[in-house]
Amino acid sequence: MEEQTKTVIKQYSKEVIAEASELLKQGKLVAFPTETVYGLGANALDADACQLIFKSKERPLTDPLIVHVHSLEQSLTLLDQSYQEVVVLFKQLAGRYWPGPLTMVVKANLELIPNMITAETGFVGLRMPNHEIALDLLRTSQLPIAAPSANKFGHVSPTKAEHVYNDFYKDSEVFIIDGGQCSFGIESTVLKISYDQEQSSPYKLKILRRGGVSEQHLRQSLEELGYSGQYVLESVQNKHYVEETENLEAPGQFLRHYSPDIDSYLFSQYKEASTLEFGECVMLDFGQLFLSLRDKVKYYHDLSQEGDYVEAINVIYDKLRWAETQKDAKFVLITNFYEIYGNDKGKGIEHREALFDRIFRATSGKQIL
Ligand code: TXA
Ligand code: MG
Repeated sequence: MEEQTKTVIKQYSKEVIAEASELLKQGKLVAFPTETVYGLGANALDADACQLIFKSKERPLTDPLIVHVHSLEQSLTLLDQSYQEVVVLFKQLAGRYWPGPLTMVVKANLELIPNMITAETGFVGLRMPNHEIALDLLRTSQLPIAAPSANKFGHVSPTKAEHVYNDFYKDSEVFIIDGGQCSFGIESTVLKISYDQEQSSPYKLKILRRGGVSEQHLRQSLEELGYSGQYVLESVQNKHYVEETENLEAPGQFLRHYSPDIDSYLFSQYKEASTLEFGECVMLDFGQLFLSLRDKVKYYHDLSQEGDYVEAINVIYDKLRWAETQKDAKFVLITNFYEIYGNDKGKGIEHREALFDRIFRATSGKQIL
């Protein structure tokens, strides 16, 4: 008898949402679209179901899960309300950015949240996604949903239902709700909020992962909200990414992360004398910087001909997955726009760091000439 595949893709409908809610209640995995990437969801109040996420993704338990909510009110039940100053700012930022690509990491209410979701840190990441299907699932199930990106650990994050299917159909049981392509295309910004009254600037804000909300925009919001002089805001830098065996300040910030199953390199300069086998290469260009190599390489795609960072963000993961499946392709070159462009060139410049972060990780920061 032919073996039935356990992973299915279902087109979004009210009936499918009802079925998915039931599955979540039974401790099963449901993948769903958000505006950033697809999430691999489980009931966040059920430790066994969350365990299944780690197992299916082959993800280390040291990497905490984001919990998705349908409202600010729901999120407030999941955090530790005794840290009042943190809660005040949390509410204000949620007011500005939710629903949307901002995950805030705060002390968890461990009476509800299983500690394994927090990777035993006691801190939980909370986010309300800006996507009708995700919100429908959250409201219908009335459950907070723990969901990392729906890819195998270390692989490229999914922006289409078929990406999720390709990663999980062989060995997992996942009910995938198809909502088409994700509109933004890379993950949310992860912001850790802490407060230390001993400090002259008591709010300590750290961007653990760059994403849909830029540092520049956050800073502007903090100023507008009247926090001038009361906060320190900083971002984890690429150079701080370390080997997977080391203890991490920002769990999950591994260097090799979001990478295609094919050797990938940053590319900044073409030299006539280059010995690179361009005939075996996929080139992911930006702003037509290496248009002259189009006929030399085997496959060529420009992430944004106009050099628009947001347009490139919209397609980067899909194109990385495309690159790894091209016949006879041996390696990928990704244009290092960062190195080539001056400081204020390119549309959507405030999103440049987030895009660069993803191509830096996809290539593990490796350069090639
Ligand atoms: O856009 C997104 O954030 C997507 C969609 C599905 O919402 N989710 C996502 O989850 O990207 P994930 O697990 O693939 O990445 C979340 C990262 C973790 O790897 C970790 O670095 C950080 O966010 N994170 C989450 N919770 C944290 C916590 N409690 N403390 C520190 N870092 C945390
Ligand atoms: Mg991920």
